[in-house]
Amino acid sequence: MNFSAVNKKANRVFLLPAIAIIVLSLVQCTPKHQVASSFKAGTTADDPNKGLKDYYKSYFPIGVAVNTAALHGPDSALIVKEFNSVTAENDMKMGPIHPSENVYNWKNADDIVDFATSHHIKIRGHNLCWHNQEAAWMFKGADGEPVTKELLLKRLKDHIFAVAGRYKGKIYAWDVVNEAVDDSNDTTQIYRKSNWYNICNGPDFIEAAFRYAHEADPQAKLYYNDYNSEHPVKREKIYKLLKKLVEDHVPIDGVGMQAHWKLNEPSPGELRKALDEVTSLGLKVQFTELDITIRLPQLNPAPGATTTPVPDPGYTPELEAKQIAQYKMAFDIFRQYKKFITNVTFWNVSDRYSWLDQRGGGLMGGAAAGGNTTRMVKKAYPLLFDENRQRKKAYWSVVGF
Ligand code: G3I
Repeated sequence: MNFSAVNKKANRVFLLPAIAIIVLSLVQCTPKHQVASSFKAGTTADDPNKGLKDYYKSYFPIGVAVNTAALHGPDSALIVKEFNSVTAENDMKMGPIHPSENVYNWKNADDIVDFATSHHIKIRGHNLCWHNQEAAWMFKGADGEPVTKELLLKRLKDHIFAVAGRYKGKIYAWDVVNEAVDDSNDTTQIYRKSNWYNICNGPDFIEAAFRYAHEADPQAKLYYNDYNSEHPVKREKIYKLLKKLVEDHVPIDGVGMQAHWKLNEPSPGELRKALDEVTSLGLKVQFTELDITIRLPQLNPAPGATTTPVPDPGYTPELEAKQIAQYKMAFDIFRQYKKFITNVTFWNVSDRYSWLDQRGGGLMGGAAAGGNTTRMVKKAYPLLFDENRQRKKAYWSVVGF
């Protein structure tokens, strides 16, 4: 037996495993081969000072809808840490800010503008013309009868000049017109039959509002804002409105897609289709009111059927997992469209309070469903922060890219 051969064999028998152990231990020690934790190494857990706005600073501002209570209470620290844009949830709407012809309530809106300005936070104005929380006095003459189109448009112009003019240079983007598109599946009905539409006998008020806003603040970015903008029928209606505004050279910068979404809506394809259509017009996109309710719409019971409220299962692990996946899907696509998206704003700060809770937790029950269902107040748990203002797992699916 050739000893050298024996030695070689012995070496192979002992040396190879030793090499393998060394290589394996090296591989295990190299950080990039560490077992992936629930989020990418070097992000949140290692950097307690980073917030959503920091993770997305090379993408787009991350905003939140606020009321004045949020600015002077426990929410304020979270707002300053996590966000670099705010929207007034209610305080700049026509009714709250301009309740009668010669009365303006500036206090709350000024408070929000002062808070944001002092913290170098962008401000989105919401909104200059809407069919809800409207200034009802605008539609009636001294005789209580509906005003003429001319008088209504003058009142709209005075309102926009006063509000957009007051915050000129401070509010960087306005939801000029909110939810003017019809919600039904009737493809022949483009526009919502609001007081605005009915008195103007058509959609002229939309173009007028944008022109007034541009005249009042030429630097502000002007958006048309609506919900269900990913639903195929409504998406096409919104596209037709936007296409007409662009063709008529109306001063509009983009569309606000409210993004009041559900665990299973929109699909990735619906979201991409909506983004592709709008951006094909040369418009920008802002997601203006993002929340993802864990409640699925409740089918209305047959008329006369007795509705027994189902027990609220709460924020179960199964629902949480679906919400995490939907938030991840959304932000993966947002990042891919970053050159078109100029703001992503959440609607409310944490699960402690959501407008959805007022409506039975996103269930289409209660008044939202024509009132023929038992109003079951259920929490929607729609945001990235829980009821104690702590980051939920969904937060990590948004920043862990
Ligand atoms: O301020 C009054 C208060 O004086 C009164 O005592 C109280 C009792 O009724 O009502 C208070 O007004 C409420 C207001 O929120 C401020 O809290 C209104 O009733 C209530 O209807 C209103 O709800 C707002 C809703 O718009 C109105 O449609 C929600 O907070 C707000 O989150 C929601 O936001 C809208 C966006 O502006 C547009 N996109 C849809 C989104 C959700 O509906």
